Amino acid sequence: MKQTTQLLLLSCLTLGAFTGNLHSQAPFTLQEGYRSAFHIGVALNSRTYVEQNARLNQIVRDHFSLVVAENDFKWQALQPRQDQFNFNNADAMMTLAESQGKRVHGHVLVWHSQTPDWVFQNASGGDLTRDQLIERMQTHIRTVMTRYKGRVQSWDVVNEAFEDNGSLRNSPWRRIIGDDYLEIAFRTAHEVDPDAILVYNDYGWASDAKRQAIVAMANDFRQRGVPIHGLGIQGHWQLNYPSQAKVDQILTDAASTGLWVMVTELDIDVLPAAWEYTGADISTLFEYQEELDPYTDGLPGGVSLEQAQRYRSVFDIFLKHQASLYTITFWGVTDRDSWLNNFPVRGRTNHPMLFDRDGNAKPAFFELLEIAPDAKAPVSLNTDAPQLIPLHRFHRRANNSHFFTANPDEYQTLASFPPGGPWEYQGVSHYVAANHTHITHPVYRLFNRISGAHFYTANREEMLGVLGHPARIFSYEGIAFYTLLSPEPGSQPVHRFYAPPTGSHFFTISEAEKNQLQGSMSSDQLDYDGVAWFAYP
Ligand code: XIL
Repeated sequence: MKQTTQLLLLSCLTLGAFTGNLHSQAPFTLQEGYRSAFHIGVALNSRTYVEQNARLNQIVRDHFSLVVAENDFKWQALQPRQDQFNFNNADAMMTLAESQGKRVHGHVLVWHSQTPDWVFQNASGGDLTRDQLIERMQTHIRTVMTRYKGRVQSWDVVNEAFEDNGSLRNSPWRRIIGDDYLEIAFRTAHEVDPDAILVYNDYGWASDAKRQAIVAMANDFRQRGVPIHGLGIQGHWQLNYPSQAKVDQILTDAASTGLWVMVTELDIDVLPAAWEYTGADISTLFEYQEELDPYTDGLPGGVSLEQAQRYRSVFDIFLKHQASLYTITFWGVTDRDSWLNNFPVRGRTNHPMLFDRDGNAKPAFFELLEIAPDAKAPVSLNTDAPQLIPLHRFHRRANNSHFFTANPDEYQTLASFPPGGPWEYQGVSHYVAANHTHITHPVYRLFNRISGAHFYTANREEMLGVLGHPARIFSYEGIAFYTLLSPEPGSQPVHRFYAPPTGSHFFTISEAEKNQLQGSMSSDQLDYDGVAWFAYP
């Protein structure tokens, strides 16, 4: 009990310490926030450009300036059978990218994975000759790059050619053609599109031997005039691996070649590393075990903040290297889309991205906005009219606190209690917006684990401050609705009070009610905080 009181006090202090204007912090988009530093890219799957999922498309439109197909430019997608090319999905991705004015990165021309077996085989199933395989490789590169010439600005020409120990991987490409298959691929690509940025892409840059081998190859290519223009660092990283110092070193070494540096497939895995439990070979998938899948009901607030901090730290390093960085590309839009739900263990619930399964921005997203160098741009590019929805007000008899919700399911549940029950419905408090537009901004909802109250704020800084409190009193629940940060015709200020006895907040759009409360309640019962946002009565 004593501890509870202390924590409650702490939570008052946290909120009380905030002295800024409650509604002054207009967020902005990721791509605008980093415009002067590098592109912010994202890998898309067919949910975006075939199904045209509205939520995903909005996120992509707002926050990313570069897109890459997660799978649909791979060999098995583009040329599943010899000389039978299928560009349907790739074209759909291009249509989406071009309609939104995005840059496009092509992934990938030459790789050992997701490449059909026939590519390497003759009619009787044996290996092709060197010349035959070179011919197939060149036909593929020419066909694909010619189609998208001038429309795809950069290409992963070769992916994952090195082993962790720095030797060349003995893929069918190398086994059949020889070590020079890489340079043949780059020369061919350059012939097709001399303006394209040609990239060598790989994971595992934390291995010194591997990193040095890649850098040596890049230097050798440059010296001999083999056309290579960029190095791709995949960036499939964990909360603590690789270390910050190692990330810094990877970027320094890659930049030392004088080529563009790209982080091509960034994600931060939050689940236990499978190999720590099995101690086995990491080249294969691991069997599902419950202890490897601890966050099936959602990511605990603490881990979510740890991930936010990790994203922030690596972006601090990226900003330091911005002169050589072309793009930071995330390998997926939302947690639901991430390949890490199925790798290296199938069927887990992972949470590696900036947006959760419903497409709500996570704390990591706000951390990245927080440190974005170009902070002046407006929020949403969406000029639709706000769709107004009621914010309902309930009174909780047990402790004389109030609860507000714009969520129809929550409203239904509470409103269905019989008269005289724990919750008394007090009507619509005011009208807020269901959509993010150029005039409406997110209101974040946080949960106070100690008081059990929900806290709404339109102020990003306040939200981050509260979430970042070492006592971890609050957890992040997501964007609850949208409101105006400045007055619009017909809108009125919404006033916010804090009630110390219950650790809860009270909102009212009624000037009369505000005055009446201020006149009748002492500040240790109910303390006036200021204008929370603007909304419609
Ligand atoms: C992954 C995709 O995300 C998955 O959907 C697919 O099943 C397997 O490939 N390195 C790469 C990417 O270069 O192409 C991989 O993408 C992830 C690892």
